[in-house]
Amino acid sequence: MAELPHLNLVTIGHVDAGKSTLVGRLLYEHGEISEQVIKNLKAEAEKIGKATFEFAFVMDQLKEERERGLTIDVAHKKFKTDKFYFTIIDAPGHRDFVKNMITGTSQADAAVLVVAATDTEVQPQTKEHTFLARTLGVKQLIVAINKMDAVSYQEAKFDESKKRITALLKSVGYKPEEVPFLAISAYKGDNITKKSANMPWYTGLTVMEALNKLQIPPKLTDKPLRIPIQDVYTITGAGTVPVGRVETGILKPNQKVIFMPMKVSGEVKSIEMHHEQIPQAVPGDNIGFNVRGISRQDVRRGDVCGDSAHPPTVAEEFTAQIIVLNHPSVLAPGYTPVFHCHTAQVACTITEIVKKINPATGAVVQEKPDFIKTGDAAIIKVKPTVPMCVEKASEYPPLGRFAIRDMGQTVAAGMIIDLVPKKA
Ligand code: GTP
Ligand code: MG
Repeated sequence: MAELPHLNLVTIGHVDAGKSTLVGRLLYEHGEISEQVIKNLKAEAEKIGKATFEFAFVMDQLKEERERGLTIDVAHKKFKTDKFYFTIIDAPGHRDFVKNMITGTSQADAAVLVVAATDTEVQPQTKEHTFLARTLGVKQLIVAINKMDAVSYQEAKFDESKKRITALLKSVGYKPEEVPFLAISAYKGDNITKKSANMPWYTGLTVMEALNKLQIPPKLTDKPLRIPIQDVYTITGAGTVPVGRVETGILKPNQKVIFMPMKVSGEVKSIEMHHEQIPQAVPGDNIGFNVRGISRQDVRRGDVCGDSAHPPTVAEEFTAQIIVLNHPSVLAPGYTPVFHCHTAQVACTITEIVKKINPATGAVVQEKPDFIKTGDAAIIKVKPTVPMCVEKASEYPPLGRFAIRDMGQTVAAGMIIDLVPKKA
């Protein structure tokens, strides 16, 4: 079976911009959802006083979401075009649910920023989400100027929104000339899968065309092998079987592998997925693999397996870009919360706050501040308290994005932009 390349796509933007409506409409026009289902949702929306939310209800399935007419938690939907296999992650726009938006965005390869053409200025979460997408490493962006029906499909209104968003993209580091700007109405169905007759002035793409023009994310099979370990079992007759998800590279039987940071080596005997032996494992595969030459005590959750020729990196120190989501007081040098990166959970000390940056624009606000607090974005230096395997997010995205947790909540999120490897 020839598999289509997979892309994770997140919808972002201010509350009520029409993100869920766009996803619902797209799935409907693409044939994933029947006319009857939309009819039923329309009746339900009208019944609870939320007329016009029928397409949004495709994604907003929680009772509270429907009653309040907004998205609270991210919802995932899969669909296929002739070019890609998409997982669409529909994020909430409301400022109370930015944390859920971050969870969705940290999994995404590309984002659709939905902006209402009826806005007369850039809305707060339009700014915040754009910056978060950038900080969390989402490289590809599509801008959908929505609700064109509500501005009489006027080109001048589209141009005004486009101008404002172009300035925003520049300020956070996206290249606007590489970003398609679409004129759409998600609710009425203009320029979603078919060119609209209501905007003869528009020469741009439909949403479907723009999705099909996205780039396949760099092939992670071409990178050296990295398998963060989730668990290790001893199986009678088989020996030591580490379990984990292949994030990059390819694993094959007879391969010589090394587990870092413990530096123990072995040889792969066999690989299993869903209780069946497989000839090789590729990125995305959740596997158990039987390794000759190691004992169960040699490997732990949070370690990373790589090819002996390209061992995973153990960081002495790393530099990261973070956003503080939620902290009751302040983060200052010396603070040592737990960093959750791939399967590792390691207490790490923030040794330096290099600079504070504007979360809305990315511009430097202050060099070497004494502390940062909720809502701030910053570049920090970090030292793990015990040996920890991480990588630069630009080289191995899944091993370079992290969340910082403390007191039972997510305090911050970010990605590793540089690191100093530990000397052997
Ligand atoms: P959150 O998830 O809560 O951030 O909102 P959202 O961006 O998902 O917006 P949603 O899809 O829930 O739509 C909000 C409201 O905008 C609903 O009343 C929709 O009917 C309306 N809406 C969405 N798209 C359009 C459009 O193209 N034109 C018009 N006129 N209204 C729209
Ligand atoms: Mg929504």
